[in-house]
Amino acid sequence: MTNYQEVFTHSITGPESFWGKAAQAIQWTKKWDRVLDESDKPFYRWFAGGELNTCYNALDCHVANGRKDQVAIIYDSPVTDTVRKITYGELLESVSVFAGALTGIGVVRGDTVIIYMPMIPEALTAVLACARIGAVHSVVFGGFAPNELAIRIDDARPKVIISASCGIEGKKILSYKPLMDEAIHLAAHKPEKCVIFQRPQVKADLIPGRDLDWDNFTEGAKPVPCVSVAATDPLYILYTSGTTGKPKGVLRDNGGHAVALKWSMEHIYDVKPGEVFWAASDVGWVVGHSYIIYAPLLHGCTTIVYEGKPVGTPDPGAFWRVISQHNVSVLFTAPTAFRAIKKEDPAGEYLKKHNISCLRYLFLAGERLDPDTYYWANDMLKIPVVDHWWQTETGWPIAANCMGIEPLPIKAGSPTKPVPGYNVQILDADGNRLPDGEEGSVVIKLPLPPGCLPTLWQDDKRYLEYVTERPGYYVTGDGGRFDEDGYLYIMGRIDDVINVAGHRLSTGAMEEIVSKHKDVAECAVLGAEDQLKGQVPVGFVVLKAGVDRKPEDIIAELVQMVRSELGALACFKEAAVVKALPKTRSGKTLRGTMRNIVDGKSYVVPSTIDDPAVLTSIEESARNIGYGKKG
Ligand code: COA
Ligand code: AMP
Repeated sequence: MTNYQEVFTHSITGPESFWGKAAQAIQWTKKWDRVLDESDKPFYRWFAGGELNTCYNALDCHVANGRKDQVAIIYDSPVTDTVRKITYGELLESVSVFAGALTGIGVVRGDTVIIYMPMIPEALTAVLACARIGAVHSVVFGGFAPNELAIRIDDARPKVIISASCGIEGKKILSYKPLMDEAIHLAAHKPEKCVIFQRPQVKADLIPGRDLDWDNFTEGAKPVPCVSVAATDPLYILYTSGTTGKPKGVLRDNGGHAVALKWSMEHIYDVKPGEVFWAASDVGWVVGHSYIIYAPLLHGCTTIVYEGKPVGTPDPGAFWRVISQHNVSVLFTAPTAFRAIKKEDPAGEYLKKHNISCLRYLFLAGERLDPDTYYWANDMLKIPVVDHWWQTETGWPIAANCMGIEPLPIKAGSPTKPVPGYNVQILDADGNRLPDGEEGSVVIKLPLPPGCLPTLWQDDKRYLEYVTERPGYYVTGDGGRFDEDGYLYIMGRIDDVINVAGHRLSTGAMEEIVSKHKDVAECAVLGAEDQLKGQVPVGFVVLKAGVDRKPEDIIAELVQMVRSELGALACFKEAAVVKALPKTRSGKTLRGTMRNIVDGKSYVVPSTIDDPAVLTSIEESARNIGYGKKG
């Protein structure tokens, strides 16, 4: 079939036959009893009764089928001036040995392991080794501060933490080990062992009895084979921001995940086994899990682990250099990366220095693709620029222009149409379905397709919040609409989640930190539009009565608090001290109105407002820190 509508209709009307067929592309050690188990709604299980091993499908089966000498990973690190190629055969060897070493310290199927590592191939070795022995990995993005890592340690309760001596961010060398030590100190749960990969730039001090040097750890370890696990067993936990300071532990199963990712490589990304697929993201994010690690390897592609930035390492030609040097067929990155390149090289002078005729598609996701960036990328590259929409929870795209099914005409500002498997609908505030053209809450009719979260890690109750607000639907948290041609438009989050340079963050988490300051009575943190990063957080702070310190000193302390408790990636740099926050008569902060003020948009004064004069002072304060309507 090569007709999008036919494929989509089949996926919705006959999900069991659709996904049962897709599952044949995966090697199973035991066939499933049911493709879709609906016996415990709204919890759905895909391929119940089936058994497999995800690492086997990513490595062993390719080595057995003639890909032993094909490059599996290209490690390209402009920050260390390194290019290293690792074949499928070599990767299988190092993963089997590392898995053997983990087994040697008592890690068994079902144990959890936290991985806190920079963009180096050893991060993939650690991930795949966990999958090989049925241990549940939880990768934590290296940019998170110790406090955030500690929260994840206490939730995942890892037996082992795997880390590296340092990460390299542009020109900065960041020691990871002290951050890990601090996190373990803050956490109530203590891991039994920590395995540290020593990089030449920094030698970490190891704590005797607890810490193990990666090289010594693996020396002499015996390679181990794959353990067969249930399709419904957890493969990994990935924490993502919710609306509070407590992150959500998105759970991924083994069977549905492997089937969906493999299917997506052919049908969405139109990439063939043996080709080079580059997701320029980080292993700490969902894009990294799905499209740096698992999907390219499940599909027999070569993946790129890029330790650099789109600009500054060394220049805005960095992406073009990597594409041409490694013969990349498909590039996937965040719009922010393209905005950064466009800002430094608007006329594409650096692009002219490289031959990137190998590149067939550019896929962008992680945040809204603004039409300006779309047109610029399109003009520069002259290949399809495909916006696609998804979330950590789904693990793979919800809406896209499926290049491997039937490329549809592109409309700037839209990620095109729902991907087969996702029955996307738009509901109003009362849960009624809205007609095309009207904007509302974007939901997905249950069941979600394979690969999406079956629940949250040890928190079924919080998972139910996604699926009980609108019974029968998964609520995405995004607002949007369909147009008359069935194209979807995602307009942004309708909760307190923001997207900063493609990084998903919670304003609630920042408010919790700011509120801890001794002089702060209350605060609101909002996402303000930003030309480069899409959004950046901006705070409004009310001080306790009697505080007469200089506002700028307090704000500097707040900026530092968010940086050290959440991480530099939050980019919380601007805040204003105000006399009061605008509230309804029942005491609810008028965040929507404040967001409009900060973005300089017109707004209607809500009839429920307690004191309209407060809005005028917010407008003035926003202007003072460079936001809102000018003049
Ligand atoms: N470890 C430690 N610190 C990190 C980090 C990591 N892995 N990643 C980011 N940081 C730090 C940065 O060093 C920076 O610190 P600073 O305030 O001391 O300078 C801060 O967090 C903000 O980082 P970032 O948002 O990356 O800003 P930047 O100015 O360094 O770079 C871009 C801007 C646009 C080049 C960059 O954000 C980018 O490449 N974005 C693409 C994002 C992406 O791929 N997202 C994945 C979703 S698909
Ligand atoms: P994350 O879980 O980090 O992948 O972030 C998911 C959120 O990013 C979504 O809920 C959207 O708000 C936003 N997002 C991701 N991709 C897109 C896109 N293509 N268009 C608009 N918003 C997007």
